[in-house]
Amino acid sequence: MSSPAPAPPSVSSAPNAPRSLWTRKHLLGLEDLSRDEILAILDTARAFDEISDRERKKVPALQGKIVFNLFFENSTRTRTSFSLAAKRLSADVQDFSASTSSLSKGESFIDTAKNLEAMGADILVVRHSTPGTPHLLARHVTCSIVNAGDGAHEHPTQALLDLMTIRKHKGRVEGLTVGLVGDIAHSRVARSNIWGLQKLNAKVILCGPPTLVPSAFESLGCEVAHHLDPILPRLDVVNVLRIQFERDQRSVFPSVSEYFRLYGMTRERLARARPDLLLLAPGPINRGVELTPEVADGPHSAILDQVTNGLAVRMAVLYLLSGRAPV
Ligand code: CP
Repeated sequence: MSSPAPAPPSVSSAPNAPRSLWTRKHLLGLEDLSRDEILAILDTARAFDEISDRERKKVPALQGKIVFNLFFENSTRTRTSFSLAAKRLSADVQDFSASTSSLSKGESFIDTAKNLEAMGADILVVRHSTPGTPHLLARHVTCSIVNAGDGAHEHPTQALLDLMTIRKHKGRVEGLTVGLVGDIAHSRVARSNIWGLQKLNAKVILCGPPTLVPSAFESLGCEVAHHLDPILPRLDVVNVLRIQFERDQRSVFPSVSEYFRLYGMTRERLARARPDLLLLAPGPINRGVELTPEVADGPHSAILDQVTNGLAVRMAVLYLLSGRAPV
């Protein structure tokens, strides 16, 4: 005999959401957020994570709302998980294709956003190669803006899903030592992680060659290290950042094999780490550059768990932004 169908999810059964802690119209970065605001998103995401385990994964929380994805840079994880998150919340979601839009006829970026808003957009999710683009839009439209990555500036939802993954695996963020290894200089993920981790009272060590990890990052309160092996045993968590070959890295280290020898995560190197080291990587990963396939798929790795958590985090962000009092 089949078991009875579970009760349909409802708004009220969605999150024990600490919505009252959230009053912002936009999510532009973690630098602006308080510790309590970050925790409000993470606690809401934990509630949505439970919904993903249900047979019926859809809740009506954003019924009648319209979400546009405006991605001016390529994306696999962020764009699809924002789309799926909006659908799970019952919003109408539309991917905007920059290459086939009237931007090619000279229409401005702001006019484009205003036209989408005129169609009723409640939330615009924006990725752009120019730092500050979401902030610019936020000054010109009345709907909510989510920063899905702006140049080398911030990628707040990536850092939030990294924090959620750390919380799930370690039970806390506070008091942990977290290493960010690789291309820190060009990384929006690194900047958002630095803000988020420090606000939740973790210690952050940045590691990589001096060309990719300038000492200037010490001014953000981080420890800077240029050799991985001495710091590896101190880490509770290591977040392996991608070498961004699309941003022309030829001059910042001698060769890929040299980079891999000094900073690549291998099984031999991990043998010197703590047995419970948690390994994260935001993706996409370059197998054989930042880490070996056996490490990427090995017991320390939570890389695909991060992707799963990204869905809950993005549901939480859309939910909290949609619930704010109108201004
Ligand atoms: N981590 C991340 O932002 O991946 P995508 O570029 O595929 O969205």
